[in-house]
Amino acid sequence: MATKSKKKAEETEQLLRAPAEIKFAEELEYLESIDKGVKPFSWRLSPQMVRIFVLGSTPADKLDRDIPQKWYGDATYVERAIVTLASDRGLLLIGDPGTGKSWLAELLSAAICRCSTYVVQGTAGTTEDQIKYSWNVARVISEGQSRDTMIPSPIMVAMQRGELARFEELTRSTSDVQDSLISILSEKYISIPELSEDAVVYAKPGFNIIATANSRDRGVNDLSSALKRRFNFVTIPIVTNAKQEKQIVTFRTKDLAARNGFTVEVPPALLDILVQTFSDLRQAQSNATSDAKFSNLHGLLKYRESSTRQQDNLGTMVQRKMGRNITKLRSDEDSSEEKHRKWVKLSETIW
Ligand SMILES: Nc1ncnc2c1ncn2[C@@H]1O[C@H](COP(=O)(O)OP(=O)(O)OP(=O)(O)O)[C@@H](O)[C@H]1O
Ligand SMILES: [Mg+2]
Repeated sequence: MATKSKKKAEETEQLLRAPAEIKFAEELEYLESIDKGVKPFSWRLSPQMVRIFVLGSTPADKLDRDIPQKWYGDATYVERAIVTLASDRGLLLIGDPGTGKSWLAELLSAAICRCSTYVVQGTAGTTEDQIKYSWNVARVISEGQSRDTMIPSPIMVAMQRGELARFEELTRSTSDVQDSLISILSEKYISIPELSEDAVVYAKPGFNIIATANSRDRGVNDLSSALKRRFNFVTIPIVTNAKQEKQIVTFRTKDLAARNGFTVEVPPALLDILVQTFSDLRQAQSNATSDAKFSNLHGLLKYRESSTRQQDNLGTMVQRKMGRNITKLRSDEDSSEEKHRKWVKLSETIW
């Protein structure tokens, strides 16, 4: 058993980015082992334990060990999401870029079915095949069409296993492609007209879909009313609470640093300045044609990961703003603590 978990840990270390069910495998095992709650369908954890996994444990939960918080924000969003997943409707997480929709979807799938990788990515080029099934053409030519020569989509696999499938950026795919979800969500089966027998794939209990949509993309390919009725919408707002924003940035920075093999601690005072800077930038945002990605600091971190184009401009903007905040802090009599000044100095060096 010990060798098995050691091997697993080694394998995890070799992954550039382990999905939540691998990253938190040990924690999930523990929660499953102590879970006495009622589990809907084939869920691996009861709704209460899923909540603890995502939002962290409190002393009131009376667990032998501490379960750290992984998603920061209002608990009601998470609770609503969990309840939806145990219902007949799909879950649609909607919100601005970087608000943690995909991360929450990943955590929920990992906790509920230990698999967060049945994912369809919505783009303008997403086809119905990617939602339902396609064929292995070479094998169809030699063997003909059958279940064996069919390639099921991640959604179809999730249906067969009674697990959760994820649909990222739903509104980016075209309306006709989106609408192929209607029958999946209401009838809970996919028919395969090409086959004469065994032509229907039924969903097992526990199957559901977590979709995400960017509110900035609203109108790109708006959902049809029929599809809207099959989803429960949970709108995730931008975090404006400085404490929560700091928690997210600390969490995210640690994750990114560990992934890249760095062991750096972000000084709390530097974090204060950064969060304040972005709050100021946010306030000034209405006067400028700024990018949605700047709307929060973790959005920026994400943005930085994926784009290098505008970093110079952004860097200058942040540097200028931070410079002003540092000067303000210096002249502020209340911020005369030794510790604070030390980090202000440090931040000047960094920037
Ligand atoms: N509320 C949050 N709690 C914890 N981490 C968060 C939160 N919001 C964002 N993050 C961190 O920021 C990263 C980016 O968030 P994520 O990709 O989930 O955003 P998104 O809402 O899906 O954005 P997009 O609309 O661009 O896809 C996550 O991997 C996570 O580490
Ligand atoms: Mg996302």
